[in-house]
Amino acid sequence: MCGITGYVGRKDCSTIVAQSLKNLEYRGYDSAGIALLDDTLRVHKQSGQIDDLLIPSAPDATCGIGHTRWSTHGAPTDENAHPHTDCTERISVVHNGIIDNYETFKRKLSDDHEFTSETDSEVIAHLIENALEKGADLRDAVEHVVGMLDGSFAIAVTAVGHDGIVAARQDSPLVIGHDEESSFLASDVTAFVEHTRTVTFLEDGDIAHLTGDDVTIWNGGDVVERDRQTVDWGADAAEKGGYEHYMRKEIHEQPHAVRQALSGRVDELAGSVDLDLSLSQEYCNSLDEIQIIACGTSYYAGLYAAELLEAHADVRVSVHIASEYEFRAGRDPWRTLVVAVTQSGETADTLRALRKAAGAGARTLAVTNTVGSTMAREADDTVYIRSGPEIGVAATKTFASQVMTLTLLTVYLGRQRNALSSNEASTILKELSAVPGAIQQVLDAESTVRHTAEAFADSEAFFFIGRRLGHPVALEGALKLKEISYDHAEGFSSGELKHGPLALVTEDTPVIAILTEGTNADETLHNVKEVESRGAPVIGVTSESDPNAVFDTALEVPSVGVMEPVVANVYLQLFAYHVANAKGRSIDKPRNLAKSVTVE
Ligand code: M6R
Repeated sequence: MCGITGYVGRKDCSTIVAQSLKNLEYRGYDSAGIALLDDTLRVHKQSGQIDDLLIPSAPDATCGIGHTRWSTHGAPTDENAHPHTDCTERISVVHNGIIDNYETFKRKLSDDHEFTSETDSEVIAHLIENALEKGADLRDAVEHVVGMLDGSFAIAVTAVGHDGIVAARQDSPLVIGHDEESSFLASDVTAFVEHTRTVTFLEDGDIAHLTGDDVTIWNGGDVVERDRQTVDWGADAAEKGGYEHYMRKEIHEQPHAVRQALSGRVDELAGSVDLDLSLSQEYCNSLDEIQIIACGTSYYAGLYAAELLEAHADVRVSVHIASEYEFRAGRDPWRTLVVAVTQSGETADTLRALRKAAGAGARTLAVTNTVGSTMAREADDTVYIRSGPEIGVAATKTFASQVMTLTLLTVYLGRQRNALSSNEASTILKELSAVPGAIQQVLDAESTVRHTAEAFADSEAFFFIGRRLGHPVALEGALKLKEISYDHAEGFSSGELKHGPLALVTEDTPVIAILTEGTNADETLHNVKEVESRGAPVIGVTSESDPNAVFDTALEVPSVGVMEPVVANVYLQLFAYHVANAKGRSIDKPRNLAKSVTVE
């Protein structure tokens, strides 16, 4: 989705803003632009790649803003790219989010102002122009205009004759970075983490004025203090480190990522887990239902966790696609725990669902990768999955870390509710601690997966099948493949094949079957026979040594109990990666997709 960046200070402003735009590329965009301020405003913006963006020459600039745009209102044209300027071309504005009431303003302003784009964002520049004409300073003008806008937004504004950048946040993230002599602004820390790890996350309603090393923040007209935090990862974590694609690097980071999810939280001998939650034993025991809300890959992690929670924590669980979520009547909000699973912590659909749940009086818990994200701050409790930054649009290591973390939550609740004995908990925790090694074994077999992927790359379609814990993994395997290779891929519960999808199966549609612990593999084997007898090649991702199981290709999963499907998923990630790579796809930035989906 769109990304904002900004810099105020005495370093090389144009280089810093241009580089931070590059660092935001991973969020997904179709046009980009930059505005540099010295004694005048120098703006360049265009559709297409940042590498092709002309950076204005402004050696004396001490202030600049930049933007990557993912189109919503208006096509990805040069005119619709940000920054937007006012009629005098002295004010520049970058905006993320949607202004719901922009048409009203556009109509009112059209007599006296010339609009050059189709965007909702441009009205902000013209409204600020009016406010400055009436004598307001830039901060007051922004505060006044923000008060008129409905919708969700983050904006950054610079203007000739006014110091620094004024930024405002309402439902769309903004973070400020600080070093001794400069201030940085961005939608996320990745933009500037090579310069500083000391950051301040803005809150809804905040207006910030950045002037070099000085930053003042207001909310509701009053100056407010916001905590400075230190980000615990550096620029190298967000670089490719010798890999051709972030996705492959992140697949290979999984042993480390899942170890981090466990680190310091587990007492294997005692069978206990500490997630630093504020849920009392009494509350855990009174729980009637857990509702998991999430989108995409995170939703599949939620489906996986639901199986484990019901089995080991003895609690009813429902999993909801966040954009469809309602807190329905008949539920006792006090006895309902709503768990938002979200890598970014900013997904608009999940955030809206979280707010609906909180509004209905339910207790909320965020399971996220992103420290300081909106959901981490709004939920009653937060558990971090600790994957480190994930830059590839396709979620890989965060899926594994989400499932690991949710399994820790399962053990925690199971123990609190006396649904799980300490021995049973120890067994699950042992299986968790074996996951990093098991994933490494799969990674070591990458060349086999690559050959298989290349052999099948030109197939007509791909089907993934699995039962129970294998079902969310089949769905996730299909999602991964379709999003980066653009091939037709679908995941099914194995038993559903004969109820319709079997009609699609031919000798040109490989079927990838998940047959591990926790997947009722014996039953899926019958379905494997069904597709084999229709001529489909079968790739078995399996920890079963059933002599009747004969696959065209067998990918072996080490034994790690209920975590085997997560380990099997690493094969599916590598398969998707190598099919897409064989086709020369844009793996880290697939067409039409964005890393963090901040519009509903
Ligand atoms: O940041 P979130 O986990 O809330 O994102 C949800 C989905 O947009 C995300 O999981 C998406 O499906 C993946 N990037 C696909 O690989």
